[in-house]
Amino acid sequence: MNRIIESDFPFPKLSLIAERESWRKEVYRPIYYLHKWWAKRLGSVFRGILLGACLEKSEDFWQHYYSKNTFNDKIVFDPFMGSGVTVGEAIKIGCRAIGRDINPVAYLSCRASFSKYSTNDVLSTFRKLEKENAPKLLSYFATKTRRGINATVLYYFLVKTISCPKCGGEIDLFTTRIFSRNAVPRKDPSARSVCPECGEVNFTTFDAKAVNCQECGFSYDPRKGNIKGPDVKCNHCQYGFRLVDRMAQLEAPLGFRRYAKLVLTHDGRKLYESLNDADRELERRVATEFAEIESSFIRVAVAPGYNTNQMLKHNYRYWHQLFSDRQLVCIRQIVDTLRVIDNEDLRLLFACLFSGTLEFNNLFTSFKGEGTGAVRHMFAHHILKPEMMPLEANIWGTSKSSGAFSCLFHSRVERALSYKSDPFELRVNGSKSNKVHGINMSLSPRVTDDFGLFNSNTETVYLSTGDSSCTDLPDNSVDLVITDPPFFDNVHYSELADFFYYWLNQIVEISSKSTTRSSAEVQDTNSELFTAKLTSVFAESRRVLRPDGLFIFTYHHSRHEGWTAVHRAIRHAGFACVQSYPIKAEMSVSMPLQQAKSPIHLDLIVVCRKDSKYIKQMNKECPNVMSAVSAAKRQVSALKGAGIKVSLGDAKVTLMGRLLCEIHTIRQLDLEEKFLDEIENDIDSYVGQLAVTRGEVLYEEVDTQPIQLTLFEEMAEYLANKAN
Ligand SMILES: C[S@@+](CC[C@H](N)C(=O)[O-])C[C@H]1O[C@@H](n2cnc3c(N)ncnc32)[C@H](O)[C@@H]1O
Ligand SMILES: [Zn+2]
Ligand SMILES: [Zn+2]
Repeated sequence: MNRIIESDFPFPKLSLIAERESWRKEVYRPIYYLHKWWAKRLGSVFRGILLGACLEKSEDFWQHYYSKNTFNDKIVFDPFMGSGVTVGEAIKIGCRAIGRDINPVAYLSCRASFSKYSTNDVLSTFRKLEKENAPKLLSYFATKTRRGINATVLYYFLVKTISCPKCGGEIDLFTTRIFSRNAVPRKDPSARSVCPECGEVNFTTFDAKAVNCQECGFSYDPRKGNIKGPDVKCNHCQYGFRLVDRMAQLEAPLGFRRYAKLVLTHDGRKLYESLNDADRELERRVATEFAEIESSFIRVAVAPGYNTNQMLKHNYRYWHQLFSDRQLVCIRQIVDTLRVIDNEDLRLLFACLFSGTLEFNNLFTSFKGEGTGAVRHMFAHHILKPEMMPLEANIWGTSKSSGAFSCLFHSRVERALSYKSDPFELRVNGSKSNKVHGINMSLSPRVTDDFGLFNSNTETVYLSTGDSSCTDLPDNSVDLVITDPPFFDNVHYSELADFFYYWLNQIVEISSKSTTRSSAEVQDTNSELFTAKLTSVFAESRRVLRPDGLFIFTYHHSRHEGWTAVHRAIRHAGFACVQSYPIKAEMSVSMPLQQAKSPIHLDLIVVCRKDSKYIKQMNKECPNVMSAVSAAKRQVSALKGAGIKVSLGDAKVTLMGRLLCEIHTIRQLDLEEKFLDEIENDIDSYVGQLAVTRGEVLYEEVDTQPIQLTLFEEMAEYLANKAN
């Protein structure tokens, strides 16, 4: 117990900083936001973990948090690199860093984030791309207003269409006729709706029950469309049918129709209008151009999977089908100019920028409303969910666009570059916070994919793509393994990442494989398989870790299997859990319905050792449950004392951490298993029981003392009875 993270880690105060970071992650840690990745962790948490793992317990944590560190004798390895949070935070405090991820999209985006660039080269490449692309791409969004004034379309509003199986008529699949409203209608109740009779855009309010069309006088209920949930009603013959049944009879994805546009005039005004002759003429031109290039898009099939099955049901069978003709014409233009960027690093950087842009420019996006980032991107849900009223945004972008190539250049690339040259930290003081500059190493190492080079050149960071259960790192070669493993649930990163990979691989050509899926990805709905794969990565981590090294990871879960899996992986890989802390996490997980009102906001930091020399008391006959419960109680109180809300789900995460530490003090592995099996099931049924008897109170944020105490007291009593 000689490091801060093993003895007295300041998790409450660190949680406050993490919470502040979570409000504007892309501004406070832009380096990890160059490209989309899922389940990104908070940088301040990993900075804290790294410092806690490098510093002796006698040292001053906060003094080091806000000053320059040079731990260049420490090698840190992250086997589940994701967007590179561990790697980046390690570089900032002078550690040497190794990152590996099975997914090439994660690997490429990390390489792009950490590579060294000359700002001038980046800017001149952008200017060149702007010259080659902007006029052409903007011409696909040129329009005239109703009054005949030249303007630019910010967004076209699309509705999917389907032919009626009975009368053959074309049906617009509007879920509602209101297509634009303020994200906070209390602030601004105004809204726009489209007339079902003549297609005119009418001004209304978000809660209107009736609208009289200003053009044709038709009166309609704007809340009603032709599709409600799974059911479609034909507006021509009134025949009702289920969308999925009809899709099964069809071959292709649904068609669409553009019914409205939001334009930006030269004097900066935004106008909603229906489409006019100029727009229809442009549509025809785009369709003709698209027909000429359609066959140039490589056909890569979408494979079935939890995240892709729904789009397959909608007949999206190839990755390039997720776009409109206009989007594909623009994409072809950009891809062709990116592919010929000579410098490999710059090509990758702009490929990542472009790939990120696609998240906001495809048929699975929708309009979020006024008063917010206008585009609801496609990954708002974890499954790829077809959208009935998609948005077609101006892909090059204007000063008022969201998710466009030129906008993301400023908000992602330029921000990341400036952070790379002087990475700052947040200091939180009550409701205020400030940025502390000048205390970190710059984030521009030389990235290598060759361990030999890494070994011989201390200026390098070693990044690779592949299965982390098998690495080329020598035995006992790293000081710290710090990571964030996948959770045991249904989200397969690779199923989603394939959307980006299809394009990235055409620009930077990383592999001849057409998918990022791999049977070695630690992800499975089968808990045995998930555990086995997680164990093999943990075991490899143990092999490469020095005997006195620390293995630290973050985790949370709401279900028994999630905890059993992680416990088994730790133990079967040959580690023992020596310490755990709850810490503010960025996201909550999906949970069984009965716990839905108690979301998890906390992660657990699990600290493990590999060598028995460092593991005290591994000789108990049976775990002391009461001690785990009171430790959890102390941790929860400390968080609450710092002003961090703790929900019932969070309390359980905290307790599970303490139980892991506690059961790893017993000698026999089979006893641990038995104990964990028993206790996990009991804790959950007990929590469920509590919920039923206490109704809503426990499901709310547990931020008042009596509720928290009651929960723990009762749980303690219960566990004590079980243990006896
Ligand atoms: C929870 S994410 C890590 C997220 C990361 N902490 C971040 O902040 O972005 C888990 C990562 O593990 C990767 N992964 C899954 N199985 C793997 C394996 N066998 N070897 C290496 N990486 C793997 C996934 O591709 C994913 O990027
Ligand atoms: Zn019909
Ligand atoms: Zn009308």
